[in-house]
Amino acid sequence: MPTQDHPRGVFVTFEGGEGSGKSTQIKLLAERLARDGRDVVVTREPGGSPGAEILRHVILSGVGKLLGAEAETLLFAAARDDHVRAVIAPALARGQWVLCDRFFDSTRAYQGRVGGVDRALMESLQRVTIGDLKPDVTFILDVPVEVGMRRATARRGAAAPDRFEAETIAFHQALRDAYQAIAAAEPARCVLIDADRDADTVAAAIWSALPARLTSP
Ligand SMILES: Nc1ncnc2c1ncn2[C@@H]1O[C@H](COP(=O)(O)OP(=O)(O)OP(=O)(O)O)[C@@H](O)[C@H]1O
Ligand SMILES: [Mg+2]
Repeated sequence: MPTQDHPRGVFVTFEGGEGSGKSTQIKLLAERLARDGRDVVVTREPGGSPGAEILRHVILSGVGKLLGAEAETLLFAAARDDHVRAVIAPALARGQWVLCDRFFDSTRAYQGRVGGVDRALMESLQRVTIGDLKPDVTFILDVPVEVGMRRATARRGAAAPDRFEAETIAFHQALRDAYQAIAAAEPARCVLIDADRDADTVAAAIWSALPARLTSP
């Protein structure tokens, strides 16, 4: 039920490079919130809705890279538009917590700061796809590039790397720098979390960084 403090639900996004622990931490936070009786929706980008999951497949196959950075950005925007309208906005309107694995900061970091896509194009797409629907809190999970890549490689096993996992060390370093810059530029929304610690320690840091008005019963 929406309450006076947050008439809509609570929108939390998780960001960070490959293997930084986003999926692991979302699961832990969702479990903790559910134990407290909160109504939680876990979702992810690219994807999260039936239409956007089809685009996820296209994007991660690497086709977007062949089309060029601008066209790839349009694919992400199309996926986000569907995801926001079909899943995120309705859940928030119902008063639910929405935990999203990657959101618009990923676009800003990957396609914007690292990919060099024109800022005006990015801002117009952001206006169309999300409008005012900004996250209440964004956790940016920060790990040294080698640590993230080692974790992602171990998890992948024998499977082939996807379009972004296959990028160079320099790309992943630039990405880490981009996320740190986003966190520094928007301290009211973003919390930079040292994620080079065991998963339970990271989860405790995330929990204590959530504003008390959101987590108190
Ligand atoms: N704090 C941690 N310490 C050690 N290993 C971890 C930690 N957190 C997650 N892992 C492991 O590292 C791997 C990557 O974690 P996870 O899938 O949560 O990262 P991710 O940020 O979602 O990655 P991707 O961007 O590739 O989806 C998994 O095998 C996970 O079990
Ligand atoms: Mg993940």
